[in-house]
Amino acid sequence: MNASTKLLERRRSVVPPGVGQFAGETTAVSGRGAHLIDADGKEYLDLAGGIGVINVGHCDERVVAAIREQAGKLLHTCIHVATYEPYVALCEKLVELLPHGGTTKAMLVNSGAEAVENAVKIARQATGRSAVLCFTEAFHGRTMMGMTLTSKTKYKVGCGPFAPEVYRVRYPRPFHEGAGLPEEEFARRELGLLEETLANRVAAEQLAAIIIEPVLGEGGFIPAPLAYLRGLRELCDRHGILLICDEVQSGFCRTGRWAAYEHADIVPDLSTWAKSMGGGMPIAAVVGRAAVMDAARPGTIGGTYGGNPVACAAALATIAVMEDLNLNERASRIGGIVRERFDRLAAQSELVGDVRGLGAMIGLELCHGRDPRRPAGEAMAAVAASCRERGVLVLPAGRDGNVLRVLSPLVITDEDLDRGLTAIEESVLALTETTTA
Ligand SMILES: Cc1ncc(COP(=O)(O)O)c(C=O)c1O
Repeated sequence: MNASTKLLERRRSVVPPGVGQFAGETTAVSGRGAHLIDADGKEYLDLAGGIGVINVGHCDERVVAAIREQAGKLLHTCIHVATYEPYVALCEKLVELLPHGGTTKAMLVNSGAEAVENAVKIARQATGRSAVLCFTEAFHGRTMMGMTLTSKTKYKVGCGPFAPEVYRVRYPRPFHEGAGLPEEEFARRELGLLEETLANRVAAEQLAAIIIEPVLGEGGFIPAPLAYLRGLRELCDRHGILLICDEVQSGFCRTGRWAAYEHADIVPDLSTWAKSMGGGMPIAAVVGRAAVMDAARPGTIGGTYGGNPVACAAALATIAVMEDLNLNERASRIGGIVRERFDRLAAQSELVGDVRGLGAMIGLELCHGRDPRRPAGEAMAAVAASCRERGVLVLPAGRDGNVLRVLSPLVITDEDLDRGLTAIEESVLALTETTTA
């Protein structure tokens, strides 16, 4: 029995299966840049990036050095007990990078789900309203409010009852519901559905916030049409509803910008951040307009570990690496390469229904006969298994698990990217031959 099999057996005997496994039975001992080494010394090219956490690569030297240095000074005191510089410095950096109109403030927590929870609490206190509107296909985490806001039933089954006063409207998905409509017209039609929801399900005056992922992450790497995001901003302004952008997966260079919402030239009232912001350490943030953030009463937001000094030092070093290497530009270049290769693949394989994304957040949707109503989840599972055989880790996404999402570290070399894309292409084409034979 090899070392990976032994480790997986140990896992099975003490870790419940509810803690799911996305990338097959992979083990990991160490990582560097875009590479992972498993328990048997096998090397993998990591296009999963720890589910969007590793934009600066595994174990970047500067991030590791910052963690070591901070760990030797102060591991913990809790921001509610004593103020320490790394917490304040990270909030200063966040408000500099992510201005929310006028004065901006930030608070730190441990995970994306916690950021979402706190954003909702802040929005409710700031507006004095209780309802929240979210979207189909959304993923906002596994805490109770996060799970309520999440759409995919597979992630929620048996876990209710869920939080009250949460309403849902259809996420604008051009490939699935656009039927060839020009983008502006499609966006207008989908915004009409939202207006209808305000007339029939929840009054605008009851809504504290609308929460949206500018690019669906778990939901299938689908960017909302930019006209839709602008329309949403306008609708929120008209009704005094706060707009929350969940940038947990799309933020920190993934789309070629710090925030995906920047592509639409909009600014939310509140936004949530985690994953790649910490370079691998558990840290997350809520950023918002000062007037909104200041509405939260003392004691209603925060927590024991939120903004842990070591995690703050890691995040500050991570952001410095992103700036130094200009990872926003690199993401745009990676996105261009990936899109070109996927477009070519789409022309060769009728399993490829859609290629879409922003920057390096690119999804490849597999459907039988390119028909969005015939999702090929089993084909995606076969492609992931075949890529893994070839030493390349990829992740599925989407309601039916039929979208291949590229979350490679943005420090990946062109040669490695080529190797990863070749593995994907060969896996899809091999399958195309067997499914059409
Ligand atoms: C958009 C979005 N929001 C929230 C979350 C939850 O983040 P976490 O797993 O850190 O709680 C995720 C995780 O994938 C996410 O993609």
